[in-house]
Amino acid sequence: MSAAGPVRSRIAGTGSYLPAKVLTNRDLESMVDTTDEWIVSRTGIRERRIAADGEFTSDLALAASRQALAAAGLRPGDIDLIVLATSTPDMVFPSSACLLQKKLGIRHGAAFDVQAVCTGFIYALATADQYIRSGMFRRALVVGAEVFSRILDWKDRGTCVLFGDGAGAVVLEAAGEAGVLSAHLHADGAYADILSTPGHVCGGKVLGDPTLKMDGGAVFKLAVRVLEECAHETLSANGLAVPDVDWFVAHQANVRIISHTARKLGIPPEKCVVTVDRHANTSAASIPLALDVAARDGRIRPGHLVLLEGVGGGFTWGSVLVRW
Ligand code: COA
Repeated sequence: MSAAGPVRSRIAGTGSYLPAKVLTNRDLESMVDTTDEWIVSRTGIRERRIAADGEFTSDLALAASRQALAAAGLRPGDIDLIVLATSTPDMVFPSSACLLQKKLGIRHGAAFDVQAVCTGFIYALATADQYIRSGMFRRALVVGAEVFSRILDWKDRGTCVLFGDGAGAVVLEAAGEAGVLSAHLHADGAYADILSTPGHVCGGKVLGDPTLKMDGGAVFKLAVRVLEECAHETLSANGLAVPDVDWFVAHQANVRIISHTARKLGIPPEKCVVTVDRHANTSAASIPLALDVAARDGRIRPGHLVLLEGVGGGFTWGSVLVRW
């Protein structure tokens, strides 16, 4: 790190984890009135993973975190901040971040959850980046982990085919040069109703419906619009243009959302990282899952410009631009 340079953050390692149980589109054909052909043509999804009984968000997060730490050449004790993005925490409290901290055997620093649904990892990464830039923490574990299979209505073919369980993680550490070039975060609660899980715990009971509800068409239109706007905002804030982007790693909800957005932006398909076919929409886990795959298979290389973009319930959306 240069003595005079500002403190920034860089991604030092990535990791991911998918539960062992595979649920294919064919399996879903015997559960709801759907077909493999419908699911693949509308979403690009072929299969999703389902967490085992007794396997919780913090367990998925642990497996992904261990991989990210190993990739960074670090031990759990080197971490002084855990920011975990999830909408499906292990319990009401403590936070899944604290439960992960316990499983990693870390007893110092800070740990908390971030709740921004499918934009959760972008919010978490932006948050950890700010703490590192300020000098308050040096090395952060930033995790997205979800067990969405537990908040789905398995009789609703309009939603149950779209989601799955998984986790992804990165180690973010202080560095002399970026790293993370910028983060842009947005929310508009006026759209709360188009994607929600409205039930809540009260008086020892779950009140309201605790399964995911969605207006798919409204979500699709909004997602494509805000992802395009946010990409332009991000690149222009950095004095960069679309051709400068080496990899577009968007929230893995639906291959059509990714390809529509990329087409509108002028990003060619070969620059888009797509893993949604293998794990469906894993909400906050999807971006670090895709990032880990492309980092491990050698597509993302040092010097590459990587545009991460998320969108999801809230409504929330945002970007993190990274020089690898
Ligand atoms: N299998 C078969 N048919 C299905 C189905 C399924 N799993 N789910 C819905 N359908 C039916 C609908 O009932 C509808 O039937 P109808 O015309 O008789 O009413 C028909 O398919 C067409 O539905 P439509 O909603 O027009 O399809 P679509 O092309 O818009 O695709 C989504 C639906 C959900 C795939 C699409 O809207 C979408 O991807 N939205 C975004 C979802 C998302 O990514 N959410 C998370 C964002 S973070």
